[in-house]
Amino acid sequence: TELSALYQAVVLDHNRSPRNFRAVEPHDYSADGKNPLCGDRVHVELRLDGDGRIEDIGFDGEGCAISMATASIMTEVLMGRTLDEARDISARFQGLVSGRGGELSVDGDSALEKLQALAGVRDYPMRVRCATLAWNTLQAALDSPDGQRTE
Ligand code: FES
Ligand code: FES
Repeated sequence: TELSALYQAVVLDHNRSPRNFRAVEPHDYSADGKNPLCGDRVHVELRLDGDGRIEDIGFDGEGCAISMATASIMTEVLMGRTLDEARDISARFQGLVSGRGGELSVDGDSALEKLQALAGVRDYPMRVRCATLAWNTLQAALDSPDGQRTE
C-alpha cells in the first residue's frame, strides 16, 4: 500500500540521515531511555524559549532503524511546539501504534505526515516498542527537569 511505501521511505531516510542528532546546550529537560527488549538507547534534550515553546530539541543514541527514525521525526515534529502540544502528539502517536485508536491532525504538516506514516509500525507488533522509545524518553524528560536520568 501507499502507507507502507511511505513508511519504508521515512525509516530509510531518517535512519540514514537523522535530523537533530546532537546535544542541545543549554537544555531545560533531558532523559535517557532504553528499550528493555533489546537494550537500544536514546537520549533526548530540549530547551524552551521565553514563550514556553520548544526552541531546540535533539537526540542521540544507538538503536535500530525504526527507533532512530522515530526519534529523528519526533524532533522535527516538536520543534516550535508547546509542551502541551508535545504531550498531546505523543499520546496520539502512542494510541495509534498501540492500536488503541486516535488520530493525528496532520493538516498538511509534512513532519506530522511522516509521523503518521511511522504509525504503520502497528502492523509489526514486535517493533512497536522501537517506535515508542523516543516518545517514552521525551515523556520521561518532561516529567523530570534536567539532571535526572531515567531508564
Ligand atoms: Fe545530558 Fe544534561 S548533558 S543530561
Ligand atoms: Fe531495539 Fe528497535 S530493536 S529499539
